Amino acid sequence: MSLHSLLVMLRLPLDLVVVVLRYYIFGGLRFRKFNKSLLNCLKLRVYRTSLQVDMMDGKYLFPYSNRFLIRKIIPFIARELVKDLPGYGELYDPNLMWLVKQEDRKSSDPIIIFSHGGGYFIQTAPLQIKSVLSVYRLLDYEKRRRTSILFLDYNLISEGYPFPHQLHQLHKTYSKLVSEKNDNIILMGDSAGGHLSISYTQFLRTVSAPVVYPLKMVLISPWVKLSPLPEDLVQGKSWNDNEHYDMIHHSRFASMLDLRHLIGTSDPFSIICSPGGKTPRTQDDWNCIPLYSDDKHDIFLILGEDESFRDDVLQWAKYAIDLPWFEKIKYGNLHEFLDEKHYQLIRRGEQGKVNLSVFIEPHGVHDSMLYFEDVIASDVSRKLKSGKLPNVRDYDRAKYFGIVRLVEFLNSSL
Ligand SMILES: *[C@@H]1O[C@H](CO)[C@@H](O)[C@H](O)[C@H]1NC(C)=O
Ligand SMILES: *[C@@H]1O[C@H](CO)[C@@H](O)[C@H](O)[C@H]1NC(C)=O
Repeated sequence: MSLHSLLVMLRLPLDLVVVVLRYYIFGGLRFRKFNKSLLNCLKLRVYRTSLQVDMMDGKYLFPYSNRFLIRKIIPFIARELVKDLPGYGELYDPNLMWLVKQEDRKSSDPIIIFSHGGGYFIQTAPLQIKSVLSVYRLLDYEKRRRTSILFLDYNLISEGYPFPHQLHQLHKTYSKLVSEKNDNIILMGDSAGGHLSISYTQFLRTVSAPVVYPLKMVLISPWVKLSPLPEDLVQGKSWNDNEHYDMIHHSRFASMLDLRHLIGTSDPFSIICSPGGKTPRTQDDWNCIPLYSDDKHDIFLILGEDESFRDDVLQWAKYAIDLPWFEKIKYGNLHEFLDEKHYQLIRRGEQGKVNLSVFIEPHGVHDSMLYFEDVIASDVSRKLKSGKLPNVRDYDRAKYFGIVRLVEFLNSSL
């Protein structure tokens, strides 16, 4: 581990003490949605600090394999969530592990391929899995009974595998699922996992054999542009305005050295590496992919108002899914724009357009669905333990902003 990473980690306890002191003295922190909860302030601090370690040291943050996480750690810390889950922890192939494998599944039943976030350099955190399993547990019985979930166990760049290695791992596995006639595949990913899912749809365009596109995509704070550009670091832009609110800070992704670690010698401006990247994209880059351009497909997208990636995501969404919000936020009046009516857009059945469910969480930060809303798991577990079925309608729509909306989306579209 480099000296810099070591110092970052050694500073963490002190950072946490500062968070506690500020919390009690000033009655909160700058994080807007979470400044009333000490636990969430501490979590955000831990994430911010962890993201400062050198990329190649990311593997030391959670020094276990995904198999160990899924087979040993999760059953230990979230026993009720995995109890009696069919196929839990079984391998589909070396890159894919079942979180849920319905025993009598048909090839037309939905399969979700979940790709985890962590900038491609940090291993999966237990709470990401807990959040995903909580979503599954909250589905309506009829949907839950038919839905299977696969976890993509890709290699990290900090283990020596620069992108697009992960894309090829996904492709290998995806092709195998398709060759077995599965035609109801849903790509789901948070952060870097969202990047992987989006990049993969562009990658499929380059495949010469006939292609089965995924039917749906679930994107949670997807990382669409690898690095911020100088023009992003000015007032009025999310990279600048949210630098104190979000766990992601522009210093993390602005270094050329990091870019080399991330993608080796690949072209950083290619649409596969940076789908929302520098060169102005056009709608034609996306229209030719059925997933983005007809109402037989569904996309769920969620992001936070206070995240650094926000403007990048909205810019990408303007071209890829015809979301008309990017222009609106350009002039810095986003919060006004984001009143009740505007933080969500549900679009269905418009010719030549994908069905959309898009949400911006007011004052939300990066990836809060998986990194903060995981606390729902303890309540879901308690209900399961007492033999009750947890119901999504019992949960606070503001506190569990992402999970509730994702469950509703899946209940209505699976
Ligand atoms: C906490 O956040 C609210 C907005 O949600 C803000 O008005 C308030 O000033 C914040 N508190 C502190 C101490 O920053
Ligand atoms: C998209 O919306 C239309 C209109 O509501 C509906 O008929 C269609 O089935 C939807 N597509 C999917 C994939 O759910």
